[in-house]
Amino acid sequence: MSSRKLTVAIDGPVGSGKSTVAKLVAAELGYMHIDTGAMYRAVALLAHRRNISYSDAHALGRIAKSAKMSFLRVGAEQHIFVDGEDVEAEIRTPEMSQASSVVSALPEVRAALVEKQREMGRSGGVVMEGRDIGTVVLPWAEVKVFLTASPEERARRRTIQLLEQGVKVDYRQVLAELNARDERDSSRDLAPLKPAPDSVVVDSTHMSLGEVVDKIVELVRSKERLL
Ligand code: DC
Repeated sequence: MSSRKLTVAIDGPVGSGKSTVAKLVAAELGYMHIDTGAMYRAVALLAHRRNISYSDAHALGRIAKSAKMSFLRVGAEQHIFVDGEDVEAEIRTPEMSQASSVVSALPEVRAALVEKQREMGRSGGVVMEGRDIGTVVLPWAEVKVFLTASPEERARRRTIQLLEQGVKVDYRQVLAELNARDERDSSRDLAPLKPAPDSVVVDSTHMSLGEVVDKIVELVRSKERLL
């Protein structure tokens, strides 16, 4: 069997289960997991801390370019580090969810982060997840998955996740915010959220987490056997 490590792109909207799925798929394959949403959240956090407007494209582009970002293991989890600081907890608040969606529409920010992401994906053996990985960041990825689920199911999952993290939210508010973010992420001119033409679309509304992970791992293994 081939030992060549592939590049796997997983894209999809908020609450599709991308992050959990990507993490488990990467662990199963022995690949590195790269959560690109965390990088957009990190830029939003830096803007917030430095009192820079979320629409100041030039300042945020500079921040995105100069910040050193890496993913490191902390216990069983993988956290994002920015300039050596673990900011994982701070980037996961509802405020940073909305702010990251705003800053991610800025071309300067996208250009800087896409460059970092390509560097991280260069040598294969990665499962990279986001919105534009199969279309823009790693169009050469050997396996591309577009993971989705109904808005109601995604809002339900996201509500549970936030409650588990101790964030007080209610389902209706989560559904409204999710629809707002979907609309912004899908309608922006630059790298809108959409499946790559050569991606496999997986609708997880009625699938268990295990079924989704098995399906993607099998896609990767069958590609590995061909190469
Ligand atoms: O996946 P997430 O919710 O952590 O992503 C945060 C925001 O960043 C989301 O609103 C869309 C944006 N994003 C993006 O535009 N491109 C990516 N590759 C990843 C995330």
